[in-house]
Amino acid sequence: MTIIDGKAVSAALKESVKQRVAELPEKYGRVPHLVVVRVGEDPASVVYVRNKEKACEAVGIKNSTIVLAESTSEEELLNLIMALNSDDTVDGILVQLPLPGHISEAKVIETIAREKDVDGFHPYNVAGLWQKTPHVAPCTPAGIMKLLASIGVDPKGKRAVVIGRSNIVGLPVAKMLLDANATVTMCHTRTVDLPSVTRQAEILVVAAGRAKMVTGDMVAPGAIVIDVGMDRDPETGKLCGDVDFDSVAPIAGAITPVPGGVGPMTIACLMENTLECFLANR
Ligand code: GUN
Repeated sequence: MTIIDGKAVSAALKESVKQRVAELPEKYGRVPHLVVVRVGEDPASVVYVRNKEKACEAVGIKNSTIVLAESTSEEELLNLIMALNSDDTVDGILVQLPLPGHISEAKVIETIAREKDVDGFHPYNVAGLWQKTPHVAPCTPAGIMKLLASIGVDPKGKRAVVIGRSNIVGLPVAKMLLDANATVTMCHTRTVDLPSVTRQAEILVVAAGRAKMVTGDMVAPGAIVIDVGMDRDPETGKLCGDVDFDSVAPIAGAITPVPGGVGPMTIACLMENTLECFLANR
């Protein structure tokens, strides 16, 4: 059984981004600039945004973080985004989700210029993924595909099962696996007899948002298990995934730990997307 080292794979990707960024000032006169907007003080968002700052620092990308009060109106936020859209010194815009309930996430996502949408959430970027036209790929699904490649797993011809159907992870990763010629089953926490479905998987991606929901009896021997969960263990309060690591790891062929698996890849892919947005708009 292999424990997939997301930290090492993400470090290698960030190193390659760093080297490419270092060459930009000579050619373009500056480095890429990522603006991260956080609204309110959601504790998880505070941590995520800080990690994005740290990653920018590590790869040499300029970062600005704009923190707005929880009470900021939708109109104020949309006006800020429009100002960033027309600012030629800004290459990437990321508005940290979730947003307070009085702000429409859909409106925010579609207001960010698609060329600066480093998350790959804009409707045109989503359409580009599904229609195979040029697009910014969403970070977590792209990171999962890179993790599979890092351990030499080619999805071609394999049975992949994705638990979870969110716009951010479940739906796009299923499409990417399909495009990599896997046979993909999309399912969710309400799927009837979920274990009989998950036991078919040679590649199992779990993005259900429920602590330790996938247990050893649900996994085929040798399966590659990708855990996208970021949960709190209800018993210990510690960070854990959607996969019960202790019962699944002895059965799996490979498994991502939480933390240290998919999470670091999301941020490394964000750095890559910021660089690619910068280059695409020169
Ligand atoms: N909140 C949790 N994950 C993400 C992400 O990848 N992008 C944004 N914008 N917000 C998030």
